[in-house]
Amino acid sequence: MGLMPSAWAQQIKPSPTLEIKAIADRSRLEGKQIYDFGIGEMNPELPVPHLLKTAISQAVMDDATHYSPAAGDPELLEAIHADLRLFGLNYSLSEIVACPGPKDAVFKICVTMLNPGSRRNRLVAFAPIYESYENLPILLTGKPPIVLQTNAHFLPDPNQLADLLNKDDTIALIVLNSPNNPTGTVYPPSLLRELADIIGKHEQICVLSDEVYRTIVYDDLKHVSIASYLPNQTLIIGGMSKEVSGTGLRLGFIAGPEAVMRTIANVEGNTSSCVNLPTQKGYAHFLRKDANLRLRYQIRDALYVRREALMKRFSELVKEAIGERPSGAFYFFPDMRLYCGRRTPEGELLNTDEALALYLIKSANVVTVPGSKFQRPGHLRFAYAVSLETINAGIQQLAEALDRLCV
Ligand SMILES: Cc1ncc(COP(=O)(O)O)c(C=O)c1O
Repeated sequence: MGLMPSAWAQQIKPSPTLEIKAIADRSRLEGKQIYDFGIGEMNPELPVPHLLKTAISQAVMDDATHYSPAAGDPELLEAIHADLRLFGLNYSLSEIVACPGPKDAVFKICVTMLNPGSRRNRLVAFAPIYESYENLPILLTGKPPIVLQTNAHFLPDPNQLADLLNKDDTIALIVLNSPNNPTGTVYPPSLLRELADIIGKHEQICVLSDEVYRTIVYDDLKHVSIASYLPNQTLIIGGMSKEVSGTGLRLGFIAGPEAVMRTIANVEGNTSSCVNLPTQKGYAHFLRKDANLRLRYQIRDALYVRREALMKRFSELVKEAIGERPSGAFYFFPDMRLYCGRRTPEGELLNTDEALALYLIKSANVVTVPGSKFQRPGHLRFAYAVSLETINAGIQQLAEALDRLCV
């Protein structure tokens, strides 16, 4: 008998976006021109701001290469504290912990709040659901998340949540993600307040508010955190990955009530020790200099231009599939059910969104992520932090490939 990973760990699925990235990379190596709407990453199209790159390099040259306190370098915690105030949130330094990336922050919250030995150990998430929220509860408790579907506008139904919380006493954690991956939906403040009122009636339930896209909101909308209404039960997640295109720099943070944050800091100290210090120092410098959000809004504005181009192209060429107009993040998640069920020119039946996505890669070199990977079948996710040429040519290729399908 050989090595045997834990039964719960064996149930973990590979990251769908990284799987899709591997397919796109293979095709690229074969010399194909790829229209890659797969991975949720801005680099290389929108690189890390120069100010941040130089600040991180400078920290290395200054020998800031030792351990920091587990919760984070005080300079960074101070900068995050000031930055959160720009969003109307007031957290002291002992209420913030830095982690090696937003996904790691998700993991640390789940490890801290989901007690496998307790009856109250289930995570609730709203579909479409981001990959970590599907896999981590299984890894940590052996139980899948309870998934509630959102409505046609991808918004949660407060009454459905209230009913669930009133009848089910196993819930420990509720995930909210606005601006949302994969839909680009931004939750209105009135909805967040309604959800806060409902969850506030259940004091033991924690909200994980995933706000990694908080600076990428369009159309004069404003990002609002549910923590504004429910501070004592909310843990906020933020980080560098999407705000400053720093996916490979690996810095995220959690902010929440001090009693829980003390435990999370202990988890951090015993697992990661700390986040790499040059990144912490560099980000602290960047946040201080970007106290008016100017550099981050430049990134948002560049993404806005791409959203407009994508929406225009879709409305011209793929009219039947046009879905909810995204108002944040850099994803579009149209309903493609009309095309599922059609046949390729070779006669192959494309009866799922996964089959449709594979057909688009093979026949048009257009890479997307199928909605079933987010538990919302029949859709495709387009990550549009790509060049305008990719948007224009890619949607043209997509439209031609869809036109070749037979009813
Ligand atoms: C909603 C959401 N949360 C967390 C993450 C994790 O970010 P990272 O992979 O950079 O840790 C992502 C990444 O795409 C995301 O979309």
